[in-house]
This record gives sequence, C-alpha cells and structure tokens, in this order.
Amino acid sequence: MASEGDKLWGGRFVGDTDPIMEMFNSSIATDQRMWAADIQGSRAYAKALEKAGLITSVELEQIVTGLGKISEEWSKGSFVVAKGDEDIHTANERRLKELIGEAAGKLHTGRSRNDQVVTDMRLWLRDSCSTLATHLLQLIRTMVNRAAAEIKVLFPGYTHLQRAQPIRWSHWILSHAVALCRDSERLGEIRKRVNVLPLGSGAIAGNPLGIDRDLLCKELNFDAISLNSMDATSERDFVAEFLFWASLCLTHLSKMSEDLIIYSTKEFSFVTLSDAYSTGSSLMPQKKNPDSLELIRSKAGHVFGRCSGMLMTLKGLPSTYNKDLQEDKEAMFDVYDTMCAVLQVATGVISTLQINKDAMEKALSPDMLATDIAYYLVRKGMPFRQAHGVSGKVVHLAETKGVLLNHLSLDDLKSVSSLFTSDVSQVWNYTHSVEQYNAPGGTAQSSVLTQIQQLRSWMVKREE
Ligand code: ARG
Repeated sequence: MASEGDKLWGGRFVGDTDPIMEMFNSSIATDQRMWAADIQGSRAYAKALEKAGLITSVELEQIVTGLGKISEEWSKGSFVVAKGDEDIHTANERRLKELIGEAAGKLHTGRSRNDQVVTDMRLWLRDSCSTLATHLLQLIRTMVNRAAAEIKVLFPGYTHLQRAQPIRWSHWILSHAVALCRDSERLGEIRKRVNVLPLGSGAIAGNPLGIDRDLLCKELNFDAISLNSMDATSERDFVAEFLFWASLCLTHLSKMSEDLIIYSTKEFSFVTLSDAYSTGSSLMPQKKNPDSLELIRSKAGHVFGRCSGMLMTLKGLPSTYNKDLQEDKEAMFDVYDTMCAVLQVATGVISTLQINKDAMEKALSPDMLATDIAYYLVRKGMPFRQAHGVSGKVVHLAETKGVLLNHLSLDDLKSVSSLFTSDVSQVWNYTHSVEQYNAPGGTAQSSVLTQIQQLRSWMVKREE
C-alpha cells in the first residue's frame, strides 16, 4: 500500500487509502496511452512558467531534458509504472522528480490535473481524428474506384427488401460512399472543436500566476483558447461528439454490411467475400461465413453503448470536475480502436469481394419494369396517376394469365390502354431502363460517372 506522503495530493491525509479503493481510483492502466500528449503539454507549460518568471531558464532546461528522458522511456517501453502512480500525470511527475529533483516540483505551479487531463485528451484525440480520417478516406477511395471499374453491372435495387427497380451496382456502392463522405466532413468539423486549449484553466477558477495562454496555444498548435475555466475543465462535449460521430459512421457501415451479408447468401449470390474476410464453421464444412461484416454490424451496437454510456455519465453532474469524468478515456480509446479496425476491415472487404455479374443480372425481372410502363404512358401524354393505375392493371393481367410482364402480347396491352403500340417492346430492356435516370444523382451511366467525378474532386480537396 502506498503511504499518503508519496501521493501528489497526500499532504492533508493521515490515513492510508484502502487497497481496493487504490485500484478503483487508479486510471494509469488506461490513460498511460496519453503519455506523449502529457509530456507535450508539460513541455509547453514549463515554457509558460519560465515566461511568467515562475521558473528559471536553468530549471526550464532541467524540466525539458527530464521530460525528454521520460519520453524516451515510454517509447522504448522501459518506463516503470510505480505502485502509487495513480494516473499518467502523477506517473510522469513522479518520474521527473526522480530524474531532476526539486525543479520537478515547480512544473505543476498553477496547473491542476483537471486542466491537464483534458488538454492531454484533446491533444490525443486531435491526432487520432487525423488517423481515422485517413482510414475513412481510404475506404471511400476504394469504393469509388470499384464503382468506376464496375459501372456496367446492373442488378436489382430493393425497397422494403422487395425488388424495386433495376440500378447500377456502382450506384449502390456510391449510395454508401456518400454517407461516408458526410462522416468524413463531420469528423473534420469535430476535430476543429477538439482543437481548443483548456490548459491554463487550473482546477476551476483559472490561472492566477500570469501564465500566457496564447503562448500555450501556439506551442501546442491549438486553434483557439477555451473561454471559461469552469467549462473548460469539465466539458466533455468533444468526447460525446466523437462517440456520436463513430455511432453514425457505424450506422452507415452496419447498413452496408447488412446489404452485403444478404447479397452473399446462396439465395442471392450477388457477391462472394474473399477468404481473407470470412471464416468457416467448426461443424459444417461447407460454410463460409461473412464474419467481417457481421462484426462490423455488431460493433455498431458496441459503440452506441459507449456513446449512451458517456452521455449517462455526463448527465446530471454538478458543475466542474467530478471523478466520474475519469470514465471518458476508456470510451474514447475503445471507440477509436474499434473505428480503426472497422474502417480497415471494411476497406479490405470492399477491395477484395468478387461480384457475380451473371447472378446479379439474372435477378432482374420484368415486374421491376412496371414503373417503366407507367413512364412509357406518361411519355405518350397520360397523367402519371392514371398511368400508374394502367400499369397496375397490366401487372394484374400478367398475374392472372400466369405470364411474365414482357410476355403479354400487344393485344393484351392494348386491352388495358390504347396508347400501347409496338414500341413498347423497348421497355423490356434493363439498360434502357436505368439509362432513363439521367438527372443528377440517378442511376444512368452519365449520372453515376458525374457522381464519381464529384467524389474524386471531393477526395482531392480532403487530401489537401
Ligand atoms: N485521472 C484523472 C482523470 O482522468 C485526472 C484528473 C484528476 N483530478 C482530480 N481532481 N482528482 O480524470
């Protein structure tokens, strides 16, 4: 058991901490991940202390050298976490004292772990957002390239999981890619709000010792300085926003996975997942399961849980820092790790899956052209509402006769409307069908190509 004198906050304590409480209170196992951010923040803070005349340039030199050594220890994996190290902040400060002696005791002047921890988190998350943005862009690029390469392939589009209208396979891919573009933009917006400096807020009231927060802001490359010290030390909106971002992004990926899981069944056979992203059954030798996609779908539930859990923690907290906030890091790290894996697996799945063009095209059926019959009549001057009714009658007629829509004779069709003439035969062509949808955003080849072009220029801008 660590004696209270060893603790950074131990001065007013006489009794020892209960060992279970000690473990319960400790966050070092989780937050040591932010060691680099913690050192980065401390370096900047030491500079601000020197500028304020609170430490000498010699002391600054000692602190900076000591922090450099600690950084080396962490990166080499030789940093030894001591028994009483409660969190990454106490661990680094304890080690600094061992390395440089008395000057280490000046580093925390006017600083609190309350402004320190949230500074570390913002530094950590800002860089992590950039990593996620890169993975996400790679996924989008993979999808757009695939859409360009397979633009000729047609297959059924579904609503209510019922065959709806023929569409291009590329159109389906891009429908998911554009959702991910919004996620990418959203992540960029969040990163701006993450990149705000809380350091210099102290525990609650601010900094009384002339710390130059502009200097801290510049040193740490933040875009702005927090406005209010009470808010700065306790708000975790940026964590909540990040968790929500991940939740929405996973909603999109989970939906896409669900489609692909359905398309990969024997019944559909539109796509075949590569072995690299599938697993087998320990009992049924024939099985090839889309585990990668199922796991992506399940991670959505996992991340939603983290998001709502965090909101529960935040809701109803009294003003400023409360230890409840220590929970935020577990959620942030876990969701980051999950998203990193999910985005890379999704990229792998999309880049390696094979499509079965024949099965896709075979799944198109003339009933999916009922809308086209209505449009045919509209082009002949019939109001759409009436044309819809006539087309419905044609469908009914085919059903009663037990034939496919395109097997009805011209006389059959004429019995429903005199507007049908021999040119109706061109309706029974799936390429002709998709090519009608040439308004921007549609499934005609020209419209899909425009989407691809737009996404490509969007990607170039994102890469800048
Ligand atoms: N480990 C703590 C956390 O993660 C650091 C802040 C502690 N502040 C305090 N007043 N006890 O939240």
